[in-house]
Amino acid sequence: MKSAPAWNEEKVRAAFPALAQTDDGMVRLYGDAPGGTQVAARVLERMRESLIEHCANDGGLFRTSRLAEDTMLAAHATAATFLGAANAQEVVFGLNTTSLIFHFSRMLAREWRAGDEIVVSRMDHDSNIAPWLIAAEERGVSVRWLEFDTATFQYRYDMLADLVGPRTRLIACNHASNLLGTINDVERIVAAGRSVGAVTVVDAVQSAPHFALNAGAIGCDLLMTSPYKYFGPHAGLAYVRTEIAERLRPLKVRPSPDTMPYRHAPGTPSFEAQLGTVGAIEHMAWLGEEFGGAAGASLRTRIERGYSAASAHESELSRQFLSIAAELPKMRIFGISDPAANHGRVPTFSFTIAGHTPAAIAEAFARRNIFVWNGSFYAYEIAGVLGVRDNGGVARIGLAHYNTAAEIAAVGAVLRELAA
Ligand SMILES: Cc1ncc(COP(=O)(O)O)c(C=O)c1O
Repeated sequence: MKSAPAWNEEKVRAAFPALAQTDDGMVRLYGDAPGGTQVAARVLERMRESLIEHCANDGGLFRTSRLAEDTMLAAHATAATFLGAANAQEVVFGLNTTSLIFHFSRMLAREWRAGDEIVVSRMDHDSNIAPWLIAAEERGVSVRWLEFDTATFQYRYDMLADLVGPRTRLIACNHASNLLGTINDVERIVAAGRSVGAVTVVDAVQSAPHFALNAGAIGCDLLMTSPYKYFGPHAGLAYVRTEIAERLRPLKVRPSPDTMPYRHAPGTPSFEAQLGTVGAIEHMAWLGEEFGGAAGASLRTRIERGYSAASAHESELSRQFLSIAAELPKMRIFGISDPAANHGRVPTFSFTIAGHTPAAIAEAFARRNIFVWNGSFYAYEIAGVLGVRDNGGVARIGLAHYNTAAEIAAVGAVLRELAA
């Protein structure tokens, strides 16, 4: 392996066509990554290839149909490497994470009996809560809650032993919070679930943009991601452990194949989104080649090195952001705020500033063409616990590896003004 050259912000940014755009001469500062990232050029190339070179349904004997099918199957294999799945049979593409969880909840709930229990978590996006609550209500199953600590913003792992038992059918948890930014020890939660034979579901939507996933090592049954949060197109991408994929009775039309990847992917898929997702994965691998010294290495190694290089850069930006926040007594961060404790969080910062509503904060940024979110981002339970659900929520700046130190300085200038 060659030694890795230093991170080059300009070179990285050149890989994202959207970043060069201006509005009335003003540059755009994208601080909205947790809501959806900008798209890498490779994604556009792959989607273009799909839509021009083999835009057809699969299953036919003619050239474009065969190509569509081949690239679809290859996309599953690439996604398996990306997710840390054993093989392409453990991969399901869908419309988005929410609809994938609803889809699997319906099949899983058929296995539940009245009096069974499930465990959901207070730190999840509602897409990994509501589908389970609805299924539990329909099946007469009771719901137990894994809480988080409002001082440390960590899960209450001490609750696990009491929460799981012989009747626990499912445990659903969050890998990285879309509001707090906490990175969670999902291995520990999954191990607790598996010890009683429960199905384990990990929402990795907010971890996938920041570190390499390894579903096999986590040991979960389902792991969910949304490629539009990691530089790809609007789509959902799930890992489904073989045992579960085979066990669940599929929700499918009768003539479609019973085998993966068709078994749990009803209807015609977005071939272009699958190819676009391959482009997003190739982008991460390219970072590994350019800045991780991994040129010529396996796809998995290039992906891992790409993430390591990107997260080292993000970590430095986080440190800069948190150092600015630490100077501002009127600013309150909901999440790990110690610049030295960066490793425990993704660069997603939710905050309030005394004297301003979150909407006013987002508007102050928007006037400078800086894109930040306000509200509670469907982190419905977190917002409830923090007491911000019904009063405008929080402001949220979320970074990706295409953000720069100069951008953090620009964000800092606005924060200082607001918090003066
Ligand atoms: C942590 C988390 N889970 C799930 C979702 C829902 O994903 P999708 O929009 O793909 O349904 C989001 C979206 O913001 C999220 O942040």
